[in-house]
Amino acid sequence: MKQAKLERRLAKVHDLPTLPVVVNNVIQITQNPKSSALEVGRAISYDQALATKVLKTANSAFYGFPRKITTITHAIVILGFANIRNIVLTASIFDMFPSKGKNKYFDREGFWKHSLACGVTSKLIAKRLGIKNLEEAFICGLLHDLGKLVMDTHFNEDFGRVVRLVKEKEILIRDAEQQLLGIDHAAVGGVVADKWNLPPALIKAIRFHHNPPLANESMRIAAIVHLADALCRAIGMGNGGDGKVPCINEESWELLNLNKQTIKRLFSEMEEEVATADTSLPFVK
Ligand SMILES: [Fe+2]
Ligand SMILES: [Fe+2]
Repeated sequence: MKQAKLERRLAKVHDLPTLPVVVNNVIQITQNPKSSALEVGRAISYDQALATKVLKTANSAFYGFPRKITTITHAIVILGFANIRNIVLTASIFDMFPSKGKNKYFDREGFWKHSLACGVTSKLIAKRLGIKNLEEAFICGLLHDLGKLVMDTHFNEDFGRVVRLVKEKEILIRDAEQQLLGIDHAAVGGVVADKWNLPPALIKAIRFHHNPPLANESMRIAAIVHLADALCRAIGMGNGGDGKVPCINEESWELLNLNKQTIKRLFSEMEEEVATADTSLPFVK
């Protein structure tokens, strides 16, 4: 029922954002294990501005490679397909939804700070858990609230009412969205991520970051993002859309099985890592 309502609403939005063709190609090519670095490089090089951004990002302190990476192919070989895909996707989403815009209601700068902090924190949690694919955790955390950007852009007036209700009633933004619109940003983000053919785990993390058990086989990554979101809110990193810290889902907490000591250590690591990411990633401006 809820899904049908959501689809009806979204169907009314004729110009739901689409990813640039180049970005779409890069996502598809990097998801195919048979692709070569040359093919990925060729796809990126169609857009010189994007190619420059990829190189700048690859050379940033965030990735910390000791020697300068000078060509796209070199960057692809060193960083790997998943990293390159994440950089391309992130750079293009930052371009589509810049932090400074004509946003009457929504603090985009605070939003991006929150997103970046969640990306970094998700990666730190994944590291603690011994997960190999740290970059997947980073992109899932970074883009988990994608739906808010879409709502701010495409349901701008409605989203303005949401933001006002949050302030007035001091409630969670997702509750205000449900109350006023019958959908929340996680559902909206999930629909858009699906439309963009993003990697399945990323779609699930976006869609279920408020309720990880519903992500089924992707519950662990959704739970990581869910916890990262709460931790970033707890220490006031950026603006999560309301001034509240949501309850942590019990099953997710049990699944991650982190003790209080680890959480304390995470808090101090977060400060340092977020500061590095904030000052060194070229798309965070
Ligand atoms: Fe959220
Ligand atoms: Fe969030």
